[in-house]
Amino acid sequence: MGDFRVNLGPNSHPVHVGAGALARVGELARAAGLKPGRAAIVTDSVVAPMYAGRVAASLRAAGFEPETAIVAAGEASKSLATLSDLFDRFAAAGLDRSSAVFALGGGVVGDLAGFAAAVWMRGVAVVQIPTTMLAQVDSALGGKTGINHSSAKNLIGAFHQPRLVVADVAALATLPDRAFREGLAEVIKYGAIMDAPMIAALEAAMPAILRRDPETLAGFVERSLRHKAFVVENDEREGGLRKILNFGHTVGHALEASAGYGSLLHGEAVAIGMGAAVALSRACANLSATDAERLLALIRSAGLETRLPPGWRGEEFERALKLDKKRAGAGVEFVLIDRLGHAFTKQLGFDEIISALG
Ligand SMILES: NC(=O)c1ccc[n+]([C@@H]2O[C@H](COP(=O)([O-])OP(=O)(O)OC[C@H]3O[C@@H](n4cnc5c(N)ncnc54)[C@H](O)[C@@H]3O)[C@@H](O)[C@H]2O)c1
Ligand SMILES: [Zn+2]
Repeated sequence: MGDFRVNLGPNSHPVHVGAGALARVGELARAAGLKPGRAAIVTDSVVAPMYAGRVAASLRAAGFEPETAIVAAGEASKSLATLSDLFDRFAAAGLDRSSAVFALGGGVVGDLAGFAAAVWMRGVAVVQIPTTMLAQVDSALGGKTGINHSSAKNLIGAFHQPRLVVADVAALATLPDRAFREGLAEVIKYGAIMDAPMIAALEAAMPAILRRDPETLAGFVERSLRHKAFVVENDEREGGLRKILNFGHTVGHALEASAGYGSLLHGEAVAIGMGAAVALSRACANLSATDAERLLALIRSAGLETRLPPGWRGEEFERALKLDKKRAGAGVEFVLIDRLGHAFTKQLGFDEIISALG
């Protein structure tokens, strides 16, 4: 299926998307220029029994000597304590400067193992092997890695580009339904901000997507990753263009934080955030009623809510919104669309944002 390169000068790397790719990680890693030798597969307690054996066998067949380090599944593993355990495992496995780390799992494993690789011996190669929808279309590409601090998410981190990304859409078959659907919020986001024809394609393909037809999924995962690659290529360190990827995320993050992390999944919060962004785009960016309704209907067809559940407009939410990293005075730099496939940022007041949630 799809192979392409992310062009980032010395950090350029290939991306491979396809069903069954887990069994080819070794050969793909060699083709990407990784040296055979000591390696670590970092994965979590849910993914390990399903997929780690396949990846390890493929690495061994290609001349790597992988050790598997398993962390507990869940966001709590993005911690200093887990990072420290990983370093113990790296030391015991004898990982040196020419060794590689293979991050096999969702965004938690990708962020944690990516950060461990960024700082181990001042930086070793990392291969991202995302197994959730969210990780396959978003977090595995772009080089942002990190762990959480008790005061906030993702406070401790580094930019560390992968040497290769391998997305095996066949692995999405085992994702729980809710986790699969939340990932679709990010797929729809790419259509909304930069690819109007993708909206029509998603409308037509939604039944096949929800059946998890591998060929259909491969097409949309690759299309999403190409969009993310384009944005990252043009703004590797998030100075400008990359901000449009935050469509739906200003409200989404505030919802996640105020709901207590975990009760609303990230993509579920982003879907509601996109609902708010559509309302604000109608009010402040001349988005047509037709485009607005099409986008909302598409989000709902993926089984996601676009409105706040009753009782959620509390003080907690407002407080979280006002703590946004992109805040500026009494407002925030907000991503709007003036038509499907075209996004830009605009300074909006908190009151405007809160009233759009009604
Ligand atoms: N680096 C970035 O650019 C970036 C972008 C977005 C999100 N993130 C981070 O990603 C994390 C969320 O990622 P996530 O949603 O993938 O969560 P996750 O990694 O916790 O995975 C969700 C759950 O699915 C399980 N799982 C993974 N693959 C599976 C499979 N194929 N079949 C069955 N179960 C499977 C995991 O064990 C876990 O229990 C957050 O920490 C977030 O901060 C990072
Ligand atoms: Zn997101």
